[in-house]
Amino acid sequence: MPSFAEARVDLDAISGNVSLLAERAAGALVMGVVKADGYGHGMLPAARAALAGGATWLGTAFISEALHLRAAGIDAPVLAWLVPPGEPLTEAIDAGIDIGVGSVWLVDEVLDAARQARRPARVQLKADTGLNRGGIGPVEWPDAVAALARAEAEGLVTVTGVFSHFACADDPGHPATSAQLEAFHRALDVVDKAGLRPEVRHIANSAAVLTRPDARFDLVRPGIAAYGLSPIPGLAVPGLRPAMTLSAILVGCKRALAGSGVSYGYRYVTERATNLALVPLGYGDGVPRAATNRGPVFVAGRRRTIAGTVCMDQFVVDIGEDTVSPGDRAILFGPGDHGEPTAQDWADALDTISYEIVTRIGQRVPRTYTGAVR
Ligand SMILES: Cc1ncc(COP(=O)(O)O)c(C=O)c1O
Repeated sequence: MPSFAEARVDLDAISGNVSLLAERAAGALVMGVVKADGYGHGMLPAARAALAGGATWLGTAFISEALHLRAAGIDAPVLAWLVPPGEPLTEAIDAGIDIGVGSVWLVDEVLDAARQARRPARVQLKADTGLNRGGIGPVEWPDAVAALARAEAEGLVTVTGVFSHFACADDPGHPATSAQLEAFHRALDVVDKAGLRPEVRHIANSAAVLTRPDARFDLVRPGIAAYGLSPIPGLAVPGLRPAMTLSAILVGCKRALAGSGVSYGYRYVTERATNLALVPLGYGDGVPRAATNRGPVFVAGRRRTIAGTVCMDQFVVDIGEDTVSPGDRAILFGPGDHGEPTAQDWADALDTISYEIVTRIGQRVPRTYTGAVR
C-alpha cells in the first residue's frame, strides 16, 4: 500500500534477532513476546517471524491478544499473563492458551472456568519475587500453590509453568536481580514440594537473557531484543538489528525569513533565513509531543532536530541551505545504517526507553513488511 508515511518492518531482522537470542539462551526455550501489537511492529507478522527464528512459545499480556494469535491459525503454545476480572477464561481454555495466574482471586475463577469448559485449564503460576507489580507474593504463595496442586490432582488444571519477572535487570549488577533469583528458587521449592512438575520455569526478559546466564531456567522471554533494540541503554549487542524504520514523505519545503517563529507557540525561532521542511507525522501517529525541539530526524542526507512544536499530524525541520523535493523522505528512526537515528537515539533525546518509541507508533501509520516470513 503506497502511503506518505510507513513503519517498515524487517521480519528477517526479527527472525535473526530471535535466533541470536536462542543461541544466548544456550538450550533454554525461547518465548517471543508479542504483546502490544508486537511492540508496535504488528503482532501476527512478528509472531510468525519469531517462530521462524526459533521461538517455540509466544507471550502476550492479555487473553484477547492470545486469542487473536489463535484466530490467525497460530497454534504454538501461548502464555497470556495479565488477566483483569472479566476476561474470557473459558474461551482461553478452549483455545489452549496458558493462563498466567498472578492474583489469588484468579485461582478460583480459573477453576470455575475449567469446570465450565469441561477440560483442564493450562495454568502458569506467577510468583512476585520482588517487582511488586503482578504475581502472587511469598505470603500467599504456599496456599495458591497448594490450591493448584489439588486442582491438578482433580484434573481441573495442568500447571504447565511457574514464572516471575525482574524489576531491575536493565541495570546490570543491581542487587535486586540476584535477590529476585533467590526468591524465585524459594518459590520453585514450594512448587516442587507440593508435587507439581511444571514443564517450564522462567524469569528472564531480554536484559537477563543477555546478562544473566543464571536466570535462564527452562525458557527465556525476550521482547525488546527480538525487535533489535538493546534492553540496556549503552549496551551494544553485536548482531541485533532494529526491525522498524519509521519514515514519511515530505509535504514540502519553504523559505523562511530570519526571526520566524515556527509551529504552535513559536517554540523555535529561525536564527537566519532558512529552508523549512514539513513532515506529515505527529503525536496522532505516536511521535511524542515531547520531541518538540528534541527529536532527531534524517532529512536531506543529514541528521537534524525537530524545529518547534510537534503537532497532531505534522512537524517542521529546519534544513538550513539544503533543499528537498516533494517526495523525498524523512527518516525518523531505523537501524542506523545510513546515518539515520535509531529508536534508542529517540529514547535518549526524550528521556524515555526505546520500547515506548516503537510501541506507540499509531495505527494511522501503515506497517509494511519485508523479509521471507509474512
Ligand atoms: C512478563 C513479561 N515477560 C517478558 C517481557 C519482555 O521484556 P523485554 O521486552 O524487556 O524483553 C515483558 C515485557 O514487559 C513482560 O511483561
